[in-house]
Amino acid sequence: MKSFIPWVGGKSKLLWLIRKLSPSRYSRFIDVFGGSGTVTLSRPIQPGCMEVYNDFNGLLANLYRCVRDKPDLLINALKYVLNSREDFDRARLALRRKRTTDIQRAAWFYQVIRQSYAAALTSFASQPHDMWSNFPLIEQAHRRLADVVVENQDFQTLIRHYDRPVTFFYCDPPYHATEGYYQNIGEDGFTERDHIRLRDALLSMEGKFLLSYNDDAFIRGLYDAPGIQIEPVTRLNNIRQRYDPNCQFSELLIANYDMAERAHATTQINLFDFQKGEFDETYVF
Ligand SMILES: C[S@@+](CC[C@H](N)C(=O)[O-])C[C@H]1O[C@@H](n2cnc3c(N)ncnc32)[C@H](O)[C@@H]1O
Repeated sequence: MKSFIPWVGGKSKLLWLIRKLSPSRYSRFIDVFGGSGTVTLSRPIQPGCMEVYNDFNGLLANLYRCVRDKPDLLINALKYVLNSREDFDRARLALRRKRTTDIQRAAWFYQVIRQSYAAALTSFASQPHDMWSNFPLIEQAHRRLADVVVENQDFQTLIRHYDRPVTFFYCDPPYHATEGYYQNIGEDGFTERDHIRLRDALLSMEGKFLLSYNDDAFIRGLYDAPGIQIEPVTRLNNIRQRYDPNCQFSELLIANYDMAERAHATTQINLFDFQKGEFDETYVF
């Protein structure tokens, strides 16, 4: 299923490739930089496989817990929200200042995501939006998340906690030089030191990781290490498509295992298959 929120850096257009390049066997799936949860929510349920959604943004983790545990209360709190600049500004401000219930915080945050321009959480979108049309998605996500552990940790603590040889970590950190898009992730935001900290945690783990990044010399340098595979991927640039229809965006997929192993493991492929036809993007891989 698709996520119940749009999110900057959401991976819906890369899902088929993430699925194709995931390891063929594992029994713990950890979405380290969960964001919209697109990757977690889109996975077919794999019996016996533990699933963890994590994001350091506490508002996001709280929203996830409320969707999983109290969807009816969340929907009730959203039913009479107005699509107006005044209400939007009030919700944004209240999130910063007011101490309140988990449900009210989740409702304000959901409103701000849905009513902000490009889901960037900053300015009012001034677009028609039917809040009630989101409720079926929230209910579906509630059912899908029933057995998903929701965490609100910095990646390093999380990786240390869940690392085992049977763990598969999918990591989608803030891209290098675009870190400023993300709020509520600690005083300094995501810095160069954090990219290095992430590299150190990933290169010393027992489990497997698949990492997505923008294609840039700093990132290529960080992961130029023995046993690490780096695959460049090119796709149409959604943001600039309106002005330049052929504009491409280059990303990297980086792993500490053979990314072709799923393709070789023909018996496993049905468990976590992908349908390329669902996606309208063009990839060069
Ligand atoms: C590129 S987005 C992830 C997008 C996600 N894969 C999706 O499909 O929506 C990066 C996420 O990392 C989170 N984040 C930033 N710093 C973090 C940290 N130190 N530990 C864990 N998560 C962090 C941000 O809040 C943001 O949601």
